[in-house]
Amino acid sequence: MSYPYQIKSLEEYKVAYQKSITDPEGFWGEIAENFTWRKKWDKVLNWNFKEPKVEWFAGGKLNITENCLDRHLPALADKPAIIWEPNNPEERVRIVTYERLHKRVCQFAQVLKNNGVKKGDRVCIYMGMVPELAYAVLACARIGAIHSVIFGGFSAQSIADRLEDAKAEYIVTCDGAYRGGKDIPLKSIIDDALIGNKVVKRVIVYTRTRTAVSMIKGRDVWWEDEMLKVTDTLPVEDFGKSEEMDAEDPLFILYTSGSTGKPKGVVHTIGGYMVWTNYTFVNTFQYQPGQVHFCTADIGWITGHSYIIYGPLSAGATSLMFEGVPTWPDAGRFWDIVDKYKVNILYTAPTAIRSLMSYGLDPLKGKDLSSLKVLGTVGEPINEEAWHWYDENIGKKKCPIVDTWWQTETAGILISNLAGVTPSKPSWATLPLPGIQPVLVDDRGKEVTEKDEEGLYKGNLCMKAPWPGILRTTYGDHERCRTNYFATYENLYFTGDGALRNDDGFFRITGRVDDVLNVSGHRIGTAEVENAINMHASVVESAVVGFPHEVKGQGIYAYVIVSAMHGDEEHTRKDISQTVARIIGPIAKPDRIQFVNGLPKTRSGKIMRRILRKIAEGEMDKLGDTSTLLDPGVVDEIKSGKL
Ligand code: PRX
Repeated sequence: MSYPYQIKSLEEYKVAYQKSITDPEGFWGEIAENFTWRKKWDKVLNWNFKEPKVEWFAGGKLNITENCLDRHLPALADKPAIIWEPNNPEERVRIVTYERLHKRVCQFAQVLKNNGVKKGDRVCIYMGMVPELAYAVLACARIGAIHSVIFGGFSAQSIADRLEDAKAEYIVTCDGAYRGGKDIPLKSIIDDALIGNKVVKRVIVYTRTRTAVSMIKGRDVWWEDEMLKVTDTLPVEDFGKSEEMDAEDPLFILYTSGSTGKPKGVVHTIGGYMVWTNYTFVNTFQYQPGQVHFCTADIGWITGHSYIIYGPLSAGATSLMFEGVPTWPDAGRFWDIVDKYKVNILYTAPTAIRSLMSYGLDPLKGKDLSSLKVLGTVGEPINEEAWHWYDENIGKKKCPIVDTWWQTETAGILISNLAGVTPSKPSWATLPLPGIQPVLVDDRGKEVTEKDEEGLYKGNLCMKAPWPGILRTTYGDHERCRTNYFATYENLYFTGDGALRNDDGFFRITGRVDDVLNVSGHRIGTAEVENAINMHASVVESAVVGFPHEVKGQGIYAYVIVSAMHGDEEHTRKDISQTVARIIGPIAKPDRIQFVNGLPKTRSGKIMRRILRKIAEGEMDKLGDTSTLLDPGVVDEIKSGKL
């Protein structure tokens, strides 16, 4: 494959950027020509941010899996599409060529059909990181079903909420999943999630761990049995056909946390998502045919959707999929993988880098990392220390590091340097990609035109115009999409992040300015955690804020009022953490729980989170004015009890 739209120099970047702003339709129309369409679009772009309504390539007909699979055949038939490294390094590796991937996807697409799945139906996928997860995702796309992948670390309750919101009738899962030293009983968690659920008709179970599971007659079937039925009865040609889809048909729903309420289902549509993930993959990482791309994310998050599956596969790349965790069986695991498969591009999160840093340089001994060409980070701001460690010890100062800023809602990378093409700056995401028009505004929505004391522009990060990958709606609730992203500032998409800009036009993302936490690169709403804590029988009220955490970036700090302790404080803390793990999942367990007698509230009853945040951050002298509080005395009590 060649990528005529791959930007090769700073000059080319400037030209592309300029064109993308002055003539977006011409620019994206030309890029979209490089894909396989059954019918070309009538109009490249229609949009307004008021409703909001955004359409890219309207009237175009395509199937994204034809672009990820069929169009690479026969040229790339024997090339690995997915290299799968199991959790246990002793277990057999699996190399899935483009030809095999195509076959498996077609086969499982037929399994879905045989089980009643139709175009537009929602299929929830709750699996570990096995190739079958990629098959399931692509098989949904092949028949026009909408996939909704749920990360394996979420609880039964979280799954139940998502199933209900998506009105999903089908589930694909595994008996269990391996992650480091743990076996996670996925099927039994699904069974719990389905108690009382009358909508789900079919659960397809892939055997991974051989854990004993209960199979319910009429509802649950085994993946392996269903696959056999397809090969037994039909020649490949009969089930290989893909559904013709509109560019603006939904491709998937992915749930993500916001500052209020339950997680919302971000909806991405086919044509724009395909073009955006492919374009950003090829340009940011400067992928060259034949290279091995290793994105360490889980497919349960957007990073895995866009940069393990759709971006790389639509570009005919080799995507490495890793089942396990970076520190098991030891902290040299990533480096073993890089060495073993001669990985060229490594894309990971600052939290993983910081965690690996803490093991020192021993785990790197004897590992050949010379295949690496490009390093990437995503998910949270990267501190300079971690950036330099990555640069010196992993990239050996020879690999550009791309600091990629983006979100579930953006589908792909919006602000990042392009590897080796545009300049980098430690802890700065730097320049917007073509098509991206960032703007910093103050709290009233006015563009920031004055610099701060450090000579930087500082404000809330917004986007002036749509790019092909922008979210189209939040599932089942368009008004929620409008109020969350398009109503804070008129005619702007609001990211929820704060940022700085320097005179070179580089952006540095400083973190969320709303009540969303970023814990180890996982997005968690404070309101969600509070609701979970409040489910505990002894809890009267709680308030949750973030605090700086050396490895996780942010930790979760909970102030909790209890009616009575159950046993001692430590025991009650454990109970509360358990409740949170049960309601949301282990990723949302508070790092610190401080018991308090009262919370700082205004006379109108609003919790002053600013004060709680400062206390959790240890900045006791920066609490600001506390005189408007109903009971200023609670502040001293909270300060003295800080953990
Ligand atoms: O706060 C930003 C942070 O992660 C948020 C988006 O989280 P999520 O939707 O889960 O997607 C994560 C993977 C794209 C953003 O609002 N974030 C993401 N990348 C960066 C970042 N913060 C700073 N620098 C980044 N490179």
